[in-house]
Amino acid sequence: MCAMRNQSLRAHLTQRLPKKILRLLRQVGALADKQGVALYLVGGVVRDLLLKRENWDLDLTVEGDGIAFARLVADRYRAGLAVFERFATARLAFPDGLKMDIATTRRESYAQPALLPTVQPASIEEDLSRRDFTINAVAMQLNSLQFGRLLDPYGGQRDLGARMIRVLHAGSFQDDPTRIFRAIRFEQRFGFRLERATVRLLAQAAATNLIQQLSGPRLKNEILLLCAEHDPVRAIARLGQLKLLRFLHRRLCYTKNVKRMVAAVPKALVWWARRFPDSAIDRPIVYLMALSSESGPAVVATMIRRLALSREQAKRVNTGGRRVDYALKRLTDKGTARPSQAYRLLADFSDEVLVLLLAKQVSKQQRVGLNLLKRRLVAYMKNRTIKTALTGRDLQAMGLEPGPEYKTILEKLLDARIDGIITTEADERALAYRLLKKSILVDRIS
Ligand code: CTP
Repeated sequence: MCAMRNQSLRAHLTQRLPKKILRLLRQVGALADKQGVALYLVGGVVRDLLLKRENWDLDLTVEGDGIAFARLVADRYRAGLAVFERFATARLAFPDGLKMDIATTRRESYAQPALLPTVQPASIEEDLSRRDFTINAVAMQLNSLQFGRLLDPYGGQRDLGARMIRVLHAGSFQDDPTRIFRAIRFEQRFGFRLERATVRLLAQAAATNLIQQLSGPRLKNEILLLCAEHDPVRAIARLGQLKLLRFLHRRLCYTKNVKRMVAAVPKALVWWARRFPDSAIDRPIVYLMALSSESGPAVVATMIRRLALSREQAKRVNTGGRRVDYALKRLTDKGTARPSQAYRLLADFSDEVLVLLLAKQVSKQQRVGLNLLKRRLVAYMKNRTIKTALTGRDLQAMGLEPGPEYKTILEKLLDARIDGIITTEADERALAYRLLKKSILVDRIS
């Protein structure tokens, strides 16, 4: 790659772009000519063009007023526009679904480490110099005459060729500690290595309290992005190796069992996706649950708060815990024979917890129990679509007084349906009457 001549590199970069995107980029390049501003495609998308990897996150940057240019593009293409004045950036949503970010080339100053920077306009070279790693400090010009010209002032191509993650300056991790996690993410994603000085700087930054100063949403974003990678297992192991897991919680138990469980998650996810393609899983949450599976409820609760998980995510993580072990024990026991028993054990769990359950069993390497569990999960997923024909209103019409009996009876009806003991509405009514008669509340019923 390093040896590529500029002309052939230009052809290579532009040929790899899908036609639709190439046409759009040429058009916005021509628009930039008219405005007399220099326009660049920048960062990860250029890196991935060089790596021949697909990535159509279009990040553009303007040497000039980025927001004014974004308004012009939005106008021309009838694209939706969101402007973030403070960061001198704008996001466009084109009618055909394409998204594009447009920024102003800037220098950034960090009033305090770990906080978001303040920005001032600057040249493209300065803009590239404030970025995280050499491989991301690359740009491709879009103006008509220079279309496809690569700007690589800090050795991005060299490091892509050497498969190396390297910071641009010694203060990079201090400026922005999220880069600690980004470094690991890119290292694992591309199978690269952290360059020697970069590992040292990373370890130094990790040994301070910089990461503690990151806001919850920023830390969460990094952790979840890491867990959303194609193969998060190695990335998580690397977090462990670099002693970074303590930033989730300083008493997080990262034991052998936890490692085995994390390593079993991909298998569980693959099985789930094959069996239940319509039931999408929040994969990062499963990894987070696996990671905290041997930590006590207080540790998990603090971790949830630290990561500022949304209520929905927190609920998913929380439904794990000890009940998972109990459910697993019963579900891998031949004695738990009735489908309704499995249903009751699983009914309160999110699908993410079901995957976790499976991962836990995979990690135990007990084939018989695993097969039994898989069969029961398949049956459960079918059974949970079953509904009773009768509702509370029907029970009311039968004369049942208000009270907890409603729930009990409806559950019994559902269990009987699931177990195939009853199949019709008439069966349900008959069973409901029998149950009502037993109930002390309804001795008035004939
Ligand atoms: N960037 C940076 N420091 C950060 C985050 C981002 O310097 N902490 C710069 C990098 O140049 C990066 C670009 O902003 O390439 C865009 O950021 P983002 O979209 O997060 O990164 P990508 O490199 O596109 O990563 P991914 O492939 O995971 O989307």
